[in-house]
Amino acid sequence: MNYQNKTYLGLQSHDIELLRKVVSRKTDLAKYPFAAGVKEQVLIYQADVLTKAAKQNRQQIMSELHHALSSGPGVFVIKQAMTNIAVIDEQTSIYQTLLESESSTLGGADHFAAAGANGRIWNALQKCALYDPKSYVSYYSNELIGLAAEAWLGPGWQLTSQVNSVPPGSQAQQVHRDYHLGFQSNETVQAYPKIVHFLSGYLTLQGAVAHTDMPIETGPTLLLPYSQQYEAGYLAYREQDVKQFFETHAVQLPLEKGDMLFFNPALFHAAGSNITDDKHRVANLLQISSAFGRAMEAVDRNSMMLAIYPALLSAWHAKQLTLSEVQAVIQATAEGYAFPTNLDQDPPLNGLSPETFQQLMLHAITADWSVEKFDKSVRLKAQQRMG
Ligand SMILES: [Fe+2]
Repeated sequence: MNYQNKTYLGLQSHDIELLRKVVSRKTDLAKYPFAAGVKEQVLIYQADVLTKAAKQNRQQIMSELHHALSSGPGVFVIKQAMTNIAVIDEQTSIYQTLLESESSTLGGADHFAAAGANGRIWNALQKCALYDPKSYVSYYSNELIGLAAEAWLGPGWQLTSQVNSVPPGSQAQQVHRDYHLGFQSNETVQAYPKIVHFLSGYLTLQGAVAHTDMPIETGPTLLLPYSQQYEAGYLAYREQDVKQFFETHAVQLPLEKGDMLFFNPALFHAAGSNITDDKHRVANLLQISSAFGRAMEAVDRNSMMLAIYPALLSAWHAKQLTLSEVQAVIQATAEGYAFPTNLDQDPPLNGLSPETFQQLMLHAITADWSVEKFDKSVRLKAQQRMG
């Protein structure tokens, strides 16, 4: 018995006709009872409908979103996911300040564009939390990020964010898949068993919050619905026939400020060309990792927790946030998984797993801990976990 072909994938498995067949599927709105519509095979949801449904039966709506990302088109839009436009604009102006200060010091580069073509802020999550905790707390109190993340990844997910500010005249990206295997060479990808290609898509969720209106001419993301189901995709996306196929079959949806887009990281996609003379396209790109995966970026979550605690506590005292909004901020910020840790110093709670930083932070807010007490507890726990 030769197990090799069952276990590994090679480029010989790529067949453009197979890709054509996979992506020829049509999205049937009747199969997605919470969706408001289908455009270019992409599911469109209304934020208020999702929020209401999540309060009544969270698992039911998460099941539908999960299905949309796996065996469905692999992508959905939530219209009006952020309705507080003032908070979006405040974050956008913080991005601008960060970009200006970084362009003079870092001269940053983007992995799919030449340096200088795009304004890119890596680890924007941490930078924004430290720069203006109050604005960060308002922005990440949004519960829909967590609904989409939990639907795909389960609890304990880890948020990271990268800002993309695309000036007029910017060129489209090349078609690609995202982290994990999307960011590896074919040589490396081939070294992973076939099942790991499949699992790679389950380890992260890609999202974007539109910070500007994005009419088609500004180049919102080009998407190939259902392509996440193409088995040889991580090896094939650099092939010429795939590039040509993508150019003729990819779809684009205009977005409005405050809309969110979520997609399976295995979906073939690329940022579009901004052919306007005067419109920037600004998006906060969310890359959300499974509790069981490793995030792409190193985030100093403990410093973020300490930075935002006073702002979160005062918003909670002033009744500006509900308990579930406080939880949304904590989920975006603190580590939600108990491992890896030093089990000698950070013993299991109730015999199973140690307390997570998310649990610690929620307890601190609801028990009204002082900033000093919280600070001391976070530092102690961080020390215990490191060993
Ligand atoms: Fe991408």
